[in-house]
Amino acid sequence: MDTDTWRSTSVTDHLGLLSPSNGLPLTSCHRSYRAVLCTELAKPLIIRTIPSPPLQPEEVRVGIHCCGVNFADILACQGLYQEKHALPFSPGMEFSGVVMETGTDVSTVQKGDRVLGVTSSKAMAEECIIDQKMLWQIPDGVSYEHAAALPVSYGTASLALERRAHTQPGETVLVTAAAGAMGLATIDIATNVFKAKVIAAAGSDHKCNLALQKGATHSVNYSQNSLKDEVKKLTDNRGVNVAIDAVGGDIFKQALHSLAWEGRIVVVGFAGGTIPSFSANLLLLKNVSAMGVYWGRYREEEFPLFSSSISSALQYCHEGKIEPHIGEVFKLEEVNEAFSHVIQRKSTGKVIISVK
Ligand SMILES: NC(=O)c1ccc[n+]([C@@H]2O[C@H](COP(=O)([O-])OP(=O)(O)OC[C@H]3O[C@@H](n4cnc5c(N)ncnc54)[C@H](OP(=O)(O)O)[C@@H]3O)[C@@H](O)[C@H]2O)c1
Repeated sequence: MDTDTWRSTSVTDHLGLLSPSNGLPLTSCHRSYRAVLCTELAKPLIIRTIPSPPLQPEEVRVGIHCCGVNFADILACQGLYQEKHALPFSPGMEFSGVVMETGTDVSTVQKGDRVLGVTSSKAMAEECIIDQKMLWQIPDGVSYEHAAALPVSYGTASLALERRAHTQPGETVLVTAAAGAMGLATIDIATNVFKAKVIAAAGSDHKCNLALQKGATHSVNYSQNSLKDEVKKLTDNRGVNVAIDAVGGDIFKQALHSLAWEGRIVVVGFAGGTIPSFSANLLLLKNVSAMGVYWGRYREEEFPLFSSSISSALQYCHEGKIEPHIGEVFKLEEVNEAFSHVIQRKSTGKVIISVK
């Protein structure tokens, strides 16, 4: 992956008053707001002031406070994500903020409510117009930063561990890219909700130490040691019951070889850039299962499960059972620096864009 793409500083394009996103010229009767725009794939993002359209009956206008940066946003802006957006588009899949205005048929939220929202794009902006179904109330005591860090990473972590891998209390879970957004969310949910033991695997000692501070019992630096050999040593040759892998390539293969009898491995992503292949006899030999999780797909296929993955994360956060790790906060104008930070493997936990 080209790590130089996002290095240049964001350009604020006030000439964008005539926005190609909807072709509407701004006049004094139109509201407007600033949004991050991807106008060309794999090129630096720009900030543009665009008109804010009127609401449809079921829609809500939210003033955004914080937006989570996800690996998928970066892939989408490179044209490499499974969901493609027509150019120009505004990236950003998760946000927190305050309801500014509601459409005539909206009954679930009202002006002034603190909400978390999930969308396939357009969250990296000062405002977002969104269907009322895709908003969740933020409980008192949960900050905007924490709320914006929850949906994608914690939603995916809980479905991977519970729905897919059926993780049981006391089982051992191997988590790769353990200090990333998905990794730390998986450690948090595995240890504090499912009462499992975690072996964290990451690419540096600093990241391994962070994962240990966040609840892992052991760690493996896979840039220096063989993941498979270290897991063998740590488990007295038994292997792990569950592996949650967001890296792919050789790390996935080593995690697959690290499974115990009747172990389960969940494919979460391919942050390393290589989709691995493997021989199916590996599944047979130890009666193990390999499966995938695609959290966003539950939104269309099984909305109640998708929704409860968000509301339970909010509830756990409210109760103090879990606490998302915010590694870095960038301003809207620093979005290219934020993307660059993630691609260069410098980030830990969730990177947040602070809009207010
Ligand atoms: N299936 C789903 O529903 C779902 C949901 C959320 C995320 N994901 C996927 O899960 C993966 C991780 O997402 P995330 O938000 O946790 O990202 P993240 O915080 O940026 O973590 C990614 C980590 O992957 C590791 N990595 C290994 N090789 C890398 C490379 N060549 N370039 C960049 N990173 C590399 C790095 O950790 P080390 O330095 O420790 O190796 C990095 O910190 C992504 O592929 C994402 O698309 C999938």
